[in-house]
Amino acid sequence: MTITLHTCREMDAADPLARSRDGFVLPEGIVYLDGNSLGALPRQAEERVRTVITRQWGQDLIKSWNVHDWIGVPARLGGKIARLIGAEPSEVLVADSTSLNVFKALHAALCLRPGRRVILSDDGNFPTDLYMAQGLIEQLSDSHRLEIVAPDEVAASLNEDVAVLMLTEVDYRTGRLHDMKALTKLAHDKGALAFWDLCHSAGAFPVDLNGCGADFAVGCGYKYLNGGPGAPAFIYVAERWQGSAEQPLFGWMGHDAPFAFDLDYRPRPGIARFLVGTPPILSLTALEAGLDLFASVELGALRQKSGALGDLFIALVEQELAGLTLASPRPAAERGSQVSYRHPEGYPIMQALIARGVIGDFRAPDILRFGFAPLYVSFTDIWNAVAQLKAVMAAQEWQKPEFRRRAAVT
Ligand SMILES: Cc1ncc(COP(=O)(O)O)c(C=O)c1O
Repeated sequence: MTITLHTCREMDAADPLARSRDGFVLPEGIVYLDGNSLGALPRQAEERVRTVITRQWGQDLIKSWNVHDWIGVPARLGGKIARLIGAEPSEVLVADSTSLNVFKALHAALCLRPGRRVILSDDGNFPTDLYMAQGLIEQLSDSHRLEIVAPDEVAASLNEDVAVLMLTEVDYRTGRLHDMKALTKLAHDKGALAFWDLCHSAGAFPVDLNGCGADFAVGCGYKYLNGGPGAPAFIYVAERWQGSAEQPLFGWMGHDAPFAFDLDYRPRPGIARFLVGTPPILSLTALEAGLDLFASVELGALRQKSGALGDLFIALVEQELAGLTLASPRPAAERGSQVSYRHPEGYPIMQALIARGVIGDFRAPDILRFGFAPLYVSFTDIWNAVAQLKAVMAAQEWQKPEFRRRAAVT
């Protein structure tokens, strides 16, 4: 059956999440398919940040740490993320960047498995996770090693030497989804811990960390959680490890009594020991505006729409154009919330598409990525995006020299 613009409009009319788009500022004439890199601006963010600046910082000054409970913001936001990732509010905290949280969680995991020497990961993991592991190993005087295998070799590579299995659930290039439940169980069967990076999961579809028995997890605030550029990240530590987990960055905010100003470090009970320094209140305020947009969202609908948007994109590309090779799994159940294609001219094709108002991105060496944030991408957006992609390919617009110049950020 041929898919038409009318079909897409009907899908929008039947979409239970259609109204959530009103919560975002989306520029006129733009189709935004890059929420897997930087989420769109929540409509409430500007006013909330302005209020914190003018009324709280401006008028109440330092009293705001108590009067407006600034000190409690990392835990409060952690509680809001917990629902999205299948955790208890006491198991999640918002702090630092994903990279730093990887370092903290990985160190804690290694300490919980003394005698085991291997961090197992795959080559679909995001480089910063691997780099943080390499840096940590150097700090530990090379007592451990990082083993990087192909994604489909992870299960077979688990053995009694592995201290921690460290994976990103959704491959940032292809969108391939790991089976978190099965791999966590396999890791546990071998006596290893399971540590998940949820950067491309949280806010795109429901995650069930506790249902899967995960030990540690991290994720960023600026993709599907719509917290703004460089938004603070989150960290999850399963309740059972909170008493014994040792994180290596002894900051005063993780101290049992920060305002006692003791000379010796003593970690706070619970997940609060994973805090390091003073929370960035303005950034956290913007992130909270993004998180609050999920409050009334039924998480099953999020998953259903995310899969349907990807399915429609794949079907329309097949129907309308040729020359692009699908790099993502075809079944929605095996994908995160993105669809990627390979093409040797991927970079200039994406630039030509952006010039036509359809924003996706490019990942070296040849991947065109299209992210579908279910809260604000519509089925009609998908129609329009594929129509513009078809025009770019038909006229070979990507041959123009201006689309070949590489910017610092791709
Ligand atoms: C899976 C994954 N982990 C980590 C990061 C980046 O971490 P950070 O926020 O510390 O830059 C990204 C960024 O795109 C990512 O995709």
